[in-house]
Amino acid sequence: MSTDKTNQSWGGRFSEPVDAFVARFTASVEFDKRLYRHDIMGSIAHATMLEKAGVLNADERDQIIANLKDIQGEIEAGTFDWRVDLEDVHMNIEARLTDRIGVTGKKLHTGRSRNDQVATDIRLWLRDEIDLILGEITRLQEGLLGLAEAEADTIMPGFTHLQTAQPVTFGHHLLAWFEMLSRDYERLVDCRKRTNRMPLGSAALAGTTYPIQREITCELLGFEAISGNSLDGVSDRDFAIEFCAAASVAMMHLSRFSEELVLWTSAQFQFIDLPDRFCTGSSIMPQKKNPDVPELVRGKTGRVFGALAGLLVLMKGQPLAYNKDNQEDKEPLFDAADTLRDSLRAFADMVPAIKPKREIMREAALRGFSTATDLADYLVRKGLPFRDCHEIVGHAVKYGLQTGKDLAEMSLDELRQFSDQISDDVFAVLTLEGSVNARDHIGGTAPNQVRAAVQRGRELLVVR
Ligand code: ARG
Repeated sequence: MSTDKTNQSWGGRFSEPVDAFVARFTASVEFDKRLYRHDIMGSIAHATMLEKAGVLNADERDQIIANLKDIQGEIEAGTFDWRVDLEDVHMNIEARLTDRIGVTGKKLHTGRSRNDQVATDIRLWLRDEIDLILGEITRLQEGLLGLAEAEADTIMPGFTHLQTAQPVTFGHHLLAWFEMLSRDYERLVDCRKRTNRMPLGSAALAGTTYPIQREITCELLGFEAISGNSLDGVSDRDFAIEFCAAASVAMMHLSRFSEELVLWTSAQFQFIDLPDRFCTGSSIMPQKKNPDVPELVRGKTGRVFGALAGLLVLMKGQPLAYNKDNQEDKEPLFDAADTLRDSLRAFADMVPAIKPKREIMREAALRGFSTATDLADYLVRKGLPFRDCHEIVGHAVKYGLQTGKDLAEMSLDELRQFSDQISDDVFAVLTLEGSVNARDHIGGTAPNQVRAAVQRGRELLVVR
């Protein structure tokens, strides 16, 4: 990147060149050059509109558009000379256009400011990012549905307080993650609506004196609406904040998901195996296989929360309209989008490859009196009030702890010490299968319900 030349864009008013360090300090090109494609897209739409407004003639328009496309080619071929003294992506591209076509290039910025230009670029960029992220969410959800269907009958302990609570099916557990991701999807779709509004035409802050037709650029760029106030148009960054908020919730979900995968792959749980390609070893302990991908996703969650906090603080003190502070919006936004997209991608690749260890899960569910609630519910069906049943089962559990027996391992006589309402039919409810099958309603853990929920999930993904 070269730094040798002096910025000509506002040369008229200045009597000395900008200090070399200040030029680097105030420049954003190092990070905003990734907006180049959307910047060029916006400029092509603007030039098209300027011709219709009579500001450019058709030749000028065509020359500008053809050369912008060539410049995009130069950037993509890696031959474009990005200059820090030209500050940002916008002025780099415009200067190159003028290099190539002289005075016609200088006409492109008519009726526009970098303030509405950059606001337009970020929205166009974020709109595309959201679409890619939505695609990754769907891919991860498809993986979850496939695994949930295969594991609809697999029984594991369900936890509260990380203590064994009641048996659940593994498929049911996987579908809890599916639900979280459905909400993440909805939040991003909603955020996309407010991202997809066009500030172009707001110019520096007050609009422009040229007869611009914002409907034309809006249509060409595929925006859903035109921003209704030029001061707000150039300074609104709500959409970036909303995106980071939605991304934070999504990362929080992935982080919880990660935490469970880390626990489950441990020698203490051994509920699942992750394929080697998603893990790494230790340089000192030969036996180690570490669940790096989930750990890293859990760790990266913090940067996305940081981006949200950073953007809120960035905006809270700003008077209308544009302030240079806004240049600081890009790095956190880019980082949040990259982090979410990469994390989803890693999970979407990894989830279908999760290998459940069904026997170990089942054994874990048999420990910890996971069917105690089922015994209480059984006694309720025999006519006792629930609170008394709770107490009776509490005594049975205490006896089990003393004798080292689970409820299902006790004889009928042993169980009848606690209530004479208990009879032979009790054993059907004390089994793991009896327990999960009994929770047979929408949202319940019964294998039938898991299969029905997978079906509903598939229908949801189809209409997206
Ligand atoms: N690089 C600037 C940004 O990212 C572009 C807009 C600058 N506008 C200005 N008047 N200095 O916000």
